[in-house]
Amino acid sequence: MIEKAKGEFTVSNILQPNEGVYQLDDYQSRYHTFRWEDNEWFNKKKINAAYETIDRHVEEGHGEKTALHYINQQQHQTLTFKEVQDHVDHYVQILRANHVKKGDRVFIFLPKNPDCYVAILATIRIGAIAGPLFEGFMGDAVHDRINDCQGKLLITDKELGQRIDRQQVPSIETVLYQEDISDQVTQGDRYVEWLDADDGMLIHYTSGSTGKPKGVLHAHRAVSHHALTGKWVLDIHDHDIYWCTSHPGWVTGSVYGLFAPWLNRATIVIQAGRFKAEDWYQIIEQLGVTIWYSAPTAFRLLMSKGDLYANYNLASLRHVLSVGEPLNPEVIHWAFREWHLRIHDTWWMTETGGHLIVNLPSQPIKPGSMGRPFPGIEVGILDEAGQVLPRGTVGQLAVKTSWPGLMKTIWNNESKYQEYFRYPGWYVSGDLAYQDDDGYVFFQGRNDDMINSSGERIGPFEVESSLIEHPAVAEAGVIGKPDPIRGEIVKAFITLRSDYVVSNTLIEEIRQHVRKRLAAHAAPKEIEVVDQLPKTKISGKILRRELKQREHDRISMSS
Ligand code: PRX
Repeated sequence: MIEKAKGEFTVSNILQPNEGVYQLDDYQSRYHTFRWEDNEWFNKKKINAAYETIDRHVEEGHGEKTALHYINQQQHQTLTFKEVQDHVDHYVQILRANHVKKGDRVFIFLPKNPDCYVAILATIRIGAIAGPLFEGFMGDAVHDRINDCQGKLLITDKELGQRIDRQQVPSIETVLYQEDISDQVTQGDRYVEWLDADDGMLIHYTSGSTGKPKGVLHAHRAVSHHALTGKWVLDIHDHDIYWCTSHPGWVTGSVYGLFAPWLNRATIVIQAGRFKAEDWYQIIEQLGVTIWYSAPTAFRLLMSKGDLYANYNLASLRHVLSVGEPLNPEVIHWAFREWHLRIHDTWWMTETGGHLIVNLPSQPIKPGSMGRPFPGIEVGILDEAGQVLPRGTVGQLAVKTSWPGLMKTIWNNESKYQEYFRYPGWYVSGDLAYQDDDGYVFFQGRNDDMINSSGERIGPFEVESSLIEHPAVAEAGVIGKPDPIRGEIVKAFITLRSDYVVSNTLIEEIRQHVRKRLAAHAAPKEIEVVDQLPKTKISGKILRRELKQREHDRISMSS
């Protein structure tokens, strides 16, 4: 696994910062003097992340500032911070009337719309733990997540709610439908539950290579991480119109779609629906978006549309960021050439709760690198014994513990949580990387079988479990197959039960089976029927690595 990194960077490849004044202009000095403890939120005895995100601004006299633009096809709605607070108060009243209290888990299964953001905040303001769910999830995916942490209340709408079978989620005492709530903003309840920094705030389910998705629990202490990275990495100023394209069911959509920008009092954009190049450029022009945080798949799709961007006025844009999957140098160079903007890559994970490796606006970018550690963060590239490897050597990407955003635990799974800390003093990410002499970190892949398709993390186990529930499927092995646009696509190798014969109709039926139960993004794009799957001799476990290797060999032979 450990090898010497290949490829050196020439100075002409390095993109210098755009002109302008940035808040963190002296990286080196800040790097050496930085302490999380110097941050105003870090030392608060009692805290509430939702209060800090919205109510504080109203109390400080910014209630009339626009908090959000909501774009849903032709519909355009704006809300001020005071109006968001009123909506949160309203949800707080309803949640408390339904006996939700500190520590209870409330799931929010809504499309990307203002109520989704408000419901998350209301849950957190009363001290309950918010579990936002991606709107693309289907029944089984939702049931599994709710059951794992025994959700008590679910907020959904009449359309998404149809995917849920109440019998399958016995811990849910109440289902609230958005349609029955949103139009009746009455006198709300300004209640705030003051909490310890380490009390639970947010739970995001995320996939690994083994087992069902794990509940990553974050604590209120994470707000200092969200706020500081929002200021220095996203570079939010008071006049900014900020757009993060991710749904709050993913950690990027909650931490950098909701908390970080609103902690810094930015006006955010909430766009209904998923990617469409024309709509996206149109939103930037129409709303004057200044900061834009998205993912490599989206940038690659925009690049594939060539000079479509030239039909739109994108002059407002000044800062562009990316996360979730490797950002190809080609895309960075294209954006620099065509948009005259650098794309700033960022690296972090659901478990880390916030940015750890970043390209600060004031620093040179080396295309192909994810950037350098955020101040206060120390990266180590470790060998199998947990020893730090020399610069330029590929190994396990680890981060010295601890920082405020780091997960509090994995719900009900202490042993899984401990696996991340198997080398004393380090958090082990599961990614492989190397670091150059200037401190820039270069992503080299995963150290496990996790799949990353369009920046969405997909666990092969979850897909395999769903596949073998189909009556025709005997066994399944699922891998990520390299793809030029999506990074990886989900590919399944299956064996059929003896009384089934392969046909296009059957394959499509199997694909739909997963699509209808888990999610469209998790359904295998390719399904290949094989006579047998490679397995370990002793335990008979399917060897995904071998399947992956075969696929790589096939691709390299055909190219
Ligand atoms: O493999 C890394 C990849 O996404 C994983 C984390 O996924 P998730 O928890 O869903 O969080 C996504 C966004 C916070 C990582 O282990 N990843 C994340 N950022 C990058 C990346 N791979 C390459 N380059 C990145 N910038």
